[in-house]
Amino acid sequence: MTTATYDRFRGTLETYFDRTAAKAWEQLTSDAPVSGIRATVRAGRTEMRDTLLSWLPHDMTGLRLLDAGCGTGALAVAAAERGAEVVAIDVAGSLVQIARDRAPSTLAIDWRVGDLLDPALGPFDHVVAMDSLIHYPARDIVTVVQRLAARTHGSILLTFAPQTPLLLAMLGMGRLFPRSDRSPAILPVRDARLRTLIRTALPDARIGRDRRVSASFYTSHALEVLP
Ligand SMILES: C[S@@+](CC[C@H](N)C(=O)[O-])C[C@H]1O[C@@H](n2cnc3c(N)ncnc32)[C@H](O)[C@@H]1O
Repeated sequence: MTTATYDRFRGTLETYFDRTAAKAWEQLTSDAPVSGIRATVRAGRTEMRDTLLSWLPHDMTGLRLLDAGCGTGALAVAAAERGAEVVAIDVAGSLVQIARDRAPSTLAIDWRVGDLLDPALGPFDHVVAMDSLIHYPARDIVTVVQRLAARTHGSILLTFAPQTPLLLAMLGMGRLFPRSDRSPAILPVRDARLRTLIRTALPDARIGRDRRVSASFYTSHALEVLP
C-alpha cells in the first residue's frame, strides 16, 4: 500500500519526466554542451553520483542493486561495471529507453518501467535513490525507505533536498516563472526532521554517512540508511 500523496506525486513525475522534460533531461545527462546554470547542475550531480558510488563496495560481484528512479541510467551503468546485478527502474518510460540505448550492450542490466516500490523486484543488497525522492513530502520519503528496508540487506542510499535558506530562496524564484514552464516542486526537508522520522519508523536501522553537495543551482543531501 502506498499513500495517496505518493501515488499523486508519482503520477505528476511520470508526466513530467516522461514527456515535458524528457529532452532536457536527456541533454543534461549527456556530454552535450549546456549553458552556465545547467553546467553547474551537471557538475553537482556528477559529484553526488560519485559520492554515492564511493559508499558502495568497490567490487560488487554477486550483489543485487536497485537503481530506484534510474532516469537515463548513469548510476546503474557504473554499478554494473563493478559487477553488480542491477535492476534499474523508472516510472518515465522514455528515460528508461534512453538509458537502454546508452548502456554498453555487454552489461546485463534489467531495465524496467514502473514504480520503484514494486514488490516483484525482489530483495536487494543495496538500493540507491539519487534525487528520485526530492519531489515527495518527508513522510512519503520515509515510507519509501521503510518499504525498501524490509527487503534490503546492505544499505539504502537516498538523497533529499535539504531545507536551506539558499534552496528556499531559489525555489521562491522558481515560483515566479509561468506555471507551464515549471518542473514539479522540489519539497525541501530539514535534515534533523528526516532523521527523526526515519529513526521512528525504523528503530533498528542505523543512519550512517551523509554528505551535502551544493554547486550553485544544485543542492542535494545524501544519507546512508543501514536497515
Ligand atoms: C531527478 S530524476 C533523477 C534520475 C536519476 N536517479 C539520476 O540521478 O540521474 C528523478 C527520477 O525519479 C523518477 N521517479 C520518481 N518517482 C518514482 C517512482 N515512484 N518510481 C519510479 N521512478 C520514479 C522520475 O521519473 C525521474 O526519472
